[in-house]
Amino acid sequence: MTLPEISRDIAFVTGAASGFGFALSKELVSRGASVIMTDINEDGCKKAVAEINEKAGKTAAIAIKVDTTRFEDQLAAYEIGKETFGRVDMLSLVFANAGISEHPWIPVFDPTTSSSRPITKPNTTTLDVTLDGQLNTAALAFQVFERQEPNPRTGFRGKLVITSSIIGFWPCKGAPLYSTAKAGVVSFMRTMAGYYGDKGITVNLIAPNVTATPIVPPDFLALLGDTYVCPLELVIEQMISVLGSCKDNGRAICISGKETWDHIQNDPMFEKNRVQFEKMEYEFGKGMGLWE
Ligand SMILES: NC(=O)c1ccc[n+]([C@@H]2O[C@H](COP(=O)([O-])OP(=O)(O)OC[C@H]3O[C@@H](n4cnc5c(N)ncnc54)[C@H](O)[C@@H]3O)[C@@H](O)[C@H]2O)c1
Repeated sequence: MTLPEISRDIAFVTGAASGFGFALSKELVSRGASVIMTDINEDGCKKAVAEINEKAGKTAAIAIKVDTTRFEDQLAAYEIGKETFGRVDMLSLVFANAGISEHPWIPVFDPTTSSSRPITKPNTTTLDVTLDGQLNTAALAFQVFERQEPNPRTGFRGKLVITSSIIGFWPCKGAPLYSTAKAGVVSFMRTMAGYYGDKGITVNLIAPNVTATPIVPPDFLALLGDTYVCPLELVIEQMISVLGSCKDNGRAICISGKETWDHIQNDPMFEKNRVQFEKMEYEFGKGMGLWE
């Protein structure tokens, strides 16, 4: 696959201290881009940046502590990045990548004890990071992109890539809030791609199956075997494939093992209801001031 040219781009990556975010940052720098690497794990992020810069022989990446659930952290990181790398086409690539695995949200159902225990408030930490945190990143990306003129090299104001999961399409009973977060960003990506597509901004998403990164316990990987585990390089290649002057927008790129495919909405009942749905969409947008 010939990957798009990104040698003068500046990227913003969340969850960059490890796994996809680190591998992606390395790849972006090796292709000539500069990267604002952010993570809640400050030491891990600094270590990752030191490794990248040593190899690059220059300051191609910077490390900034960001908790993605805090929009103000992300905004501050952008401001620092702008000061460090600032130029006309500042921040053309944003990756809403940070996520965490399932945290139990309510106590497990047990017919012998459930009726006698207190009804507890749910723990929504998984959604806070994996859904809200990514929406914070997107909110920063869109507002920055909107302020920038289309880049003469690519024709785009900016590009957002969201890390979802195959679990966004295949609800997982063992991880209900993670499934919800990953499905949520699919819908979000599709709405935003539809809205921004004619405004010089693209939004795409990758939905990998299990990949060997620190989020996945090694014994779990061993249990699954090789067939469905994604090679890390393939996931990164798919993230990069929609950058530069690539016109792709609104794609949900699924990856399982070595296979990739686009998830499409193909329910025939949607087609049957399209006229009504488009009317509803138009009225909602009008009410929100998105169009006349
Ligand atoms: N590895 C897989 O099998 C797999 C499959 C599908 C999707 N994903 C998704 O890929 C993304 C990256 O995960 P990964 O596999 O690289 O795991 P990872 O644990 O290696 O990386 C996640 C990074 O996010 C950081 N992070 C966690 N909470 C944060 C917060 N509040 N603010 C900022 N940073 C935070 C962590 O410190 C870590 O460095 C996640 O969204 C994950 O859900 C992973």
